[in-house]
Amino acid sequence: MITLGIETSCDKTAVAVVEDGFSIRSNLIATQVDLHARYGGIVPEVAARAHVEVLNPLMDQALQEAGVWFDDLDLVTVTVGPGLVGALLVGMAAAKAVALAAQVPLVGLNHLEGHIWANFLGTGPPEPPYVCLIVSGGHTMLVSMTEPHTYELLGQTLDDAAGEAFDKVARFLGLGFPGGPALDELARNGDPGAVRLPRAMKDSGDFDFSMSGLKTAVLRHVKAERAAGRNVDAADLAASFQEAIVDVQVSKTIAAADKLGVDTVILGGGVVANTRLRERMSTDAQAAGLRVRFPPLELCTDNAAMIACAGTSRFLRGERTSLDIAAIPQLKLGT
Ligand code: KG4
Ligand code: ZN
Repeated sequence: MITLGIETSCDKTAVAVVEDGFSIRSNLIATQVDLHARYGGIVPEVAARAHVEVLNPLMDQALQEAGVWFDDLDLVTVTVGPGLVGALLVGMAAAKAVALAAQVPLVGLNHLEGHIWANFLGTGPPEPPYVCLIVSGGHTMLVSMTEPHTYELLGQTLDDAAGEAFDKVARFLGLGFPGGPALDELARNGDPGAVRLPRAMKDSGDFDFSMSGLKTAVLRHVKAERAAGRNVDAADLAASFQEAIVDVQVSKTIAAADKLGVDTVILGGGVVANTRLRERMSTDAQAAGLRVRFPPLELCTDNAAMIACAGTSRFLRGERTSLDIAAIPQLKLGT
């Protein structure tokens, strides 16, 4: 069974061809990083226009690399939300057109579900239940998956998303946009214990997160050091900031698994590419007797293989999406 996946919810145009739900035949991503870098953040109209320019040639290339053509497709899957409305619409229009022309069904997907299913490419899903930590540029949440495609929200950020906090602090440190990967790199040469920073809501007893106090603490530290005539060691600060974020995420994820009595933890989203999060989650969760799964690096950030994977599984359970479906920018997981 051949599935086409299309993902354009934010700043990456992505097309993939997946066979039998879990085997990647091609997985192409055109990033718009250079277009948005000059603005220091993602500009929705620029993102939508760039998707329009790139999507059709990328689709041709993905099909060619997979060794298939439109009449070989059995299913088209596409992200319908959450995301930027203009960006989502570009991918959805293309997906509907292909489904109509190739006369195959369409399945619309929640982007966040895709991030979870990125873990199952190549292997298939382990037996649920699991606790899933989703950490990306737009989201930070803990959810439980009790059976395939059934999710319950355990907690989420009350302000910034983790990736957003990484990007803002990175910009403050002059690391460009998006700064997550650069900050990760810089932190490798720093001491995570060098600067004392808050672990917001670590012991709040719930599964919500807050990132804005940490961000402010970083800015305050820099201002105070400069006022005192001292140089700020950027690597130490990056490592300390990263440790503070990771510390809370790891401890809340383990606490959620403990509370629910589940033994498998699944990580998804762009921030899961972070070296320290992968290290700490592996050691701490394993020490707590949990199995931990995270996607290979190239499947952490936005891609269409994860959409095709989750979409094929939904299709095989009998789901179909009407060609009338509209983009849902605020789509929640579990609805
Ligand atoms: O999942 P994703 O590609 O897009 C969204 O759905 O938002 O995540 C992008 C986010 C950005 O904020 C980026 O800075 C962050 O993931 N990111 C990282 C790393 N790689 C990507 N954050 C920390 N460390 C990394 N290595
Ligand atoms: Zn994403």
